[in-house]
Amino acid sequence: MKIIRQVDSAKIVEKLLKTVAAKHVIDTTFGVGRFYKYYKPKLLVGIDPNIYEEYVVKPDIFIPKPVWAAIYILEKINIDFDTLVTDPPFYKTRPRGKDKRTYFYNIIGTPDLILRKSIELAIKLDIEYILIHYGSEIEDILDKLLDSYEIIDKILYEYKAGFLNVKSFFYLIMIL
Ligand SMILES: C[S@@+](CC[C@H](N)C(=O)[O-])C[C@H]1O[C@@H](n2cnc3c(N)ncnc32)[C@H](O)[C@@H]1O
Repeated sequence: MKIIRQVDSAKIVEKLLKTVAAKHVIDTTFGVGRFYKYYKPKLLVGIDPNIYEEYVVKPDIFIPKPVWAAIYILEKINIDFDTLVTDPPFYKTRPRGKDKRTYFYNIIGTPDLILRKSIELAIKLDIEYILIHYGSEIEDILDKLLDSYEIIDKILYEYKAGFLNVKSFFYLIMIL
């Protein structure tokens, strides 16, 4: 497993999306689209219940819903996605402190639930690759949700955000 410290997370996303030649991407926790700063797929669909004033990268289609409510809309637009990206908030409740990245704080549900619903959505839509950014190791969740899958890449990512030292994982997985 690789360990990466203090690098812009969008650089890791760029590398991993290019690894699978991602073209039609759905991001279930779109935020402000920071992940696509260096690599914008041909079609980018964003899901997020929160709408922001400014975006780093705008999605081509935006669905302002929690991840579990988006399926009804996606079934209607009928697009073949190759990759699903998800980056649930780290926090279960709003933390105190000076961290200005408030888009981490507006959570509907829990990080775990958002992750599970995102994986279920990928299975339902028959999406081959899933890129997950998550705060802890998730092999047990994957084992329970996916009959067969292969981890293509797993990166431990460490960075300092304000007063926090954050450790998280990037998983790139393939559904077989
Ligand atoms: C860590 S941020 C994602 C940042 C994003 N990767 C980016 O590049 O800007 C997590 C996002 O999950 C969103 N979120 C919270 N509850 C959600 C839910 N139930 N379904 C989907 N997204 C949710 C938050 O609004 C927030 O924008």
